[in-house]
Amino acid sequence: MIAHLKERGVKVLTDNVSAVKDADIVLLVVKPYQLADILSEIKSTLKPEMIIVSMVAGFSLSPIEAIIGDKIPLFRGMPNTAIALCESMTCLAYDKKWEAYKDEVFGVFDLLGKSVVITEELMASATVLGACGIAFALRFMRAAMQGGIEIGFAADVAQFITAQTMKGASELILQSNHHPEQEIDKVTTPRGITISGLNEMEHQGFSSSLIQGLITSFKKIDKQDK
Ligand SMILES: NC(=O)c1ccc[n+]([C@@H]2O[C@H](COP(=O)([O-])OP(=O)(O)OC[C@H]3O[C@@H](n4cnc5c(N)ncnc54)[C@H](OP(=O)(O)O)[C@@H]3O)[C@@H](O)[C@H]2O)c1
Repeated sequence: MIAHLKERGVKVLTDNVSAVKDADIVLLVVKPYQLADILSEIKSTLKPEMIIVSMVAGFSLSPIEAIIGDKIPLFRGMPNTAIALCESMTCLAYDKKWEAYKDEVFGVFDLLGKSVVITEELMASATVLGACGIAFALRFMRAAMQGGIEIGFAADVAQFITAQTMKGASELILQSNHHPEQEIDKVTTPRGITISGLNEMEHQGFSSSLIQGLITSFKKIDKQDK
């Protein structure tokens, strides 16, 4: 499945021990049910000069440390699928004792999007807001497109207008650090069209349903965390 990466100079191996042997940073990006077996497989090859970063959702640092020991720098990351375009939001957690390795780890993730340090206790929340958040934002996009078609656009044009508008809205916030309502105020004329639509969305439960969705995902993930 990753054989095509060979053409781009990536060393592709099928043996985990060989893959880890000469690594500086080992990224664990496998399904949660595979992690314990893979850690046991590579454990004796890991060295304190390496850094381990686990991206496995729902798996805390402590059970990993219980397998690999406490001498190897260990980080936990929660990216999202926009990592494929180097536009991930990656939340990273680690024990304070590994502070000296932080810059090296961030050096990798800053190339793949934006990153932020969080406490490990917030990892489930980061999964919901950042990783599930991609799906939540795209459901907003789909709904806006459906509305766009009803008011006259062909699906492909509605998709283009909606996607670029969402990108522009995100950039307005990322570049100015303004609160969203500050930018909303700029497009809501008194007695105008935008505020009528916004208020109707709120009457229909827009913000409330989004918040309840986030909380529902959080409750589910929190129960599953190891
Ligand atoms: N998807 C997300 O948005 C997201 C976000 C944050 C965190 N995560 C976490 O990232 C992890 C991976 O998720 P994913 O969606 O990327 O899953 P995925 O697409 O199924 O990728 C799993 C990878 O593990 C490889 N693999 C399978 N068995 C292996 C083994 N025995 N040794 C070494 N590698 C093995 C697979 O290679 P082959 O395909 O060649 O078998 C595949 O490249 C999960 O723990 C997930 O919770 C995902």
